[in-house]
Amino acid sequence: MLPPGRLLSVWEEDLGQSGVGELRHSLKHSAITRVPSVFFGGGTPSLARPQMVEKVLQCLQQEGHLVEGAEVTMEVNPTSMETQALRDFKEAGINRVSIGIQSLDGAALRLLRRDHCVKEAKTCVEAARQLFPNRVSTDLMFGLPGACVDKCVS
Ligand SMILES: C[S@@+](CC[C@H](N)C(=O)[O-])C[C@H]1O[C@@H](n2cnc3c(N)ncnc32)[C@H](O)[C@@H]1O
Repeated sequence: MLPPGRLLSVWEEDLGQSGVGELRHSLKHSAITRVPSVFFGGGTPSLARPQMVEKVLQCLQQEGHLVEGAEVTMEVNPTSMETQALRDFKEAGINRVSIGIQSLDGAALRLLRRDHCVKEAKTCVEAARQLFPNRVSTDLMFGLPGACVDKCVS
C-alpha cells in the first residue's frame, strides 16, 4: 500500500494528465488560433504544484496557440506556504498574480475563516511586487458585517 503522501502525488499526476489531455483535445477541435492570455483561477490553483502550470503552458505552446509574451495570471491565497511557492510559479511561467487579500482587518479575516492573517497578506503582496512588478492585483471584500468606510479606508 502506498503511503499517504505518495497517494496524493499519484492522484495529482493522474488529474494533471487528464486535465492536460482534455485541454489538448479541446484546442485541437476548436477554432482557437491564438491565446493572448491565460488565467489559472477559480478554486485555489496556488495549492497545485508549479509543474502543473508548466504542463498546461507546454500544451498551449505545442498546439501553437500561445502568443509570445502572453499574460499568464494565477489566483493566489496569501498563506505563507503559497507565498514561498511564488518564485517557483514564476519559473513555471506565471507572470501576473491576483491575491485574495479580502481584508486587512484581522477580525474580518477570522469572520471569513480565511487561512491567512494580516501579516501574511502584507508579506505576500511585498513578495509578489518584487517578483511581478506592476503585475499584481488584489481581491478585497467590502460590506462585511461590522465594516465601515473609515475602517476600509484606513
Ligand atoms: C474565485 S475566488 C478565488 C478563490 C480563492 N482561492 C478563495 O479562497 O476565495 C475569487 C475571489 O472571490 C471572492 N470570494 C470568495 N468567496 C466569496 C464569497 N463567499 N462571497 C463573495 N466573494 C467571495 C474572494 O475575494 C476571492 O478572492
